[in-house]
Amino acid sequence: MENTVTVTDNRTGEQYTFPVTHDTIRAMDLRKIKVAPDDFGMMSYDPAFMNTASCESKITYIDGDKGILRYRGYDIADLAEHCTFPQVAYLVIHGELPDPEQETEWLAALRIHMGIFENIKKFMEGFRYDAHPMGMLVSTLAALSTFYPDAKDVRNSEVQMHCIRRIIGKIPIIAAYGYRHSKGLDYISPEPKLGYAENFMHMLWDRSPLEHLKHPVLARALDVLFILHIDHEQNCSTNAMRAVGSSEADPFLSIAGAAAALAGPLHGGANEEVLKMLDKIGSQENIPEFIRGVKEGKHKLMGFGHRVYKNYDPRARIIKRTAEEVFEVTGRNKKIDLAMELERIALTDDYFVSRKLYPNVDFYSGIIYEAMGLEPQMFTVLFAIPRAVGWLAQWQELINDPAQKIARPRQIYTGYEQRKLPDSYTYGAPSEESLAYTR
Ligand code: CMC
Repeated sequence: MENTVTVTDNRTGEQYTFPVTHDTIRAMDLRKIKVAPDDFGMMSYDPAFMNTASCESKITYIDGDKGILRYRGYDIADLAEHCTFPQVAYLVIHGELPDPEQETEWLAALRIHMGIFENIKKFMEGFRYDAHPMGMLVSTLAALSTFYPDAKDVRNSEVQMHCIRRIIGKIPIIAAYGYRHSKGLDYISPEPKLGYAENFMHMLWDRSPLEHLKHPVLARALDVLFILHIDHEQNCSTNAMRAVGSSEADPFLSIAGAAAALAGPLHGGANEEVLKMLDKIGSQENIPEFIRGVKEGKHKLMGFGHRVYKNYDPRARIIKRTAEEVFEVTGRNKKIDLAMELERIALTDDYFVSRKLYPNVDFYSGIIYEAMGLEPQMFTVLFAIPRAVGWLAQWQELINDPAQKIARPRQIYTGYEQRKLPDSYTYGAPSEESLAYTR
């Protein structure tokens, strides 16, 4: 069977044959379809990139219909059960799991970067006491760019790896300091000898009434949650990382852009919204009324639905199991029962079934974080820490891919044809209207 597709342009009767690779045609081939030689050529229209591959990638594989998620070929469930976060981070960045020597070297490299300049602490102190932790994270990541001008040499592979290690080492520190800042507490220096998740908990809670939460079961649960969140192919924030990175902005600026995209309630911000939603629903008898509101379009069932998964999100399944382990230590967060009942009702309702809406990663994660003593405002930050690894792997892949160029989509212009400025607009003489506006 020939690997091509032939298109007939009914406007001209012309036929065009395009090669097919990976079940995909190249959008640029469409430009050959013209009604006249001086015609620009055909484009494809795809708001929100519903059916457009923007890159080739070897990092993450998702089969949304079958509910499969793999990093570098390994099933997410196997990685979550048998590996640590730094091992999986190494895998995602380097393409292979580390051998013992590589792991020792990797951990040592991350430890070296577990520190931030005093100026960065001062910078963070400038935030108001009630600043959202995601706002603090985004801004501080961008501010790091000013401390590391060497990061601008983005095509240098040594610089790339140096930045990757720096960011993975520093992001939990910035996250923890944001948390401490919002509580009016002093910053706790990292303890690099601890495990990655353990060290994060140390920076949150050392010598505090919540110190008991530095429990090994909770540290492992956080480690598993971190693994589940590392990468998810071309999601909104990863697309932002690639888009900003494609201009050769340094990785600190690119990752600030990615984190900003993650903050929205339709993406990583959904975990915070789920908890607010559960609080609003309050108790199980209010679920039917809430579901009615969803079906009438008054609000969304947050933590449900996914662009890619049209079957169960495999991460949600693992998170549900992890929740039970956490509750053994912290006591049961009653919201899990409310969430499970909400899921049960939703999954028997035709509205959700026909639209293939299932719980996603954000549906249960916040309930675990809350049981661990964290407030909803911190939840998206907990998503961003591990996702930094995925963003960086994708950024590195982008920079080293000769097929990539600066990201620059086309548009279909539907605005005015050329028109003349009104006579009242004369340079140096602002109109009465604009003067009134500035008064
Ligand atoms: N509650 C109610 N209806 C929904 C929901 C929801 N959570 N999600 C989708 N729908 C409906 C939507 O209204 C549409 O209905 P209709 O066909 O009648 O217009 C249909 O399902 C298809 O939805 P869509 O909005 O076209 O799907 P999308 O792929 O553009 O959006 C999504 C995906 C994740 C943004 C969306 O499902 C959503 O807003 N979910 C709630 C927010 C959320 O949980 N986000 C976390 C996503 S997973 C982790 C991450 O990426 O950060």
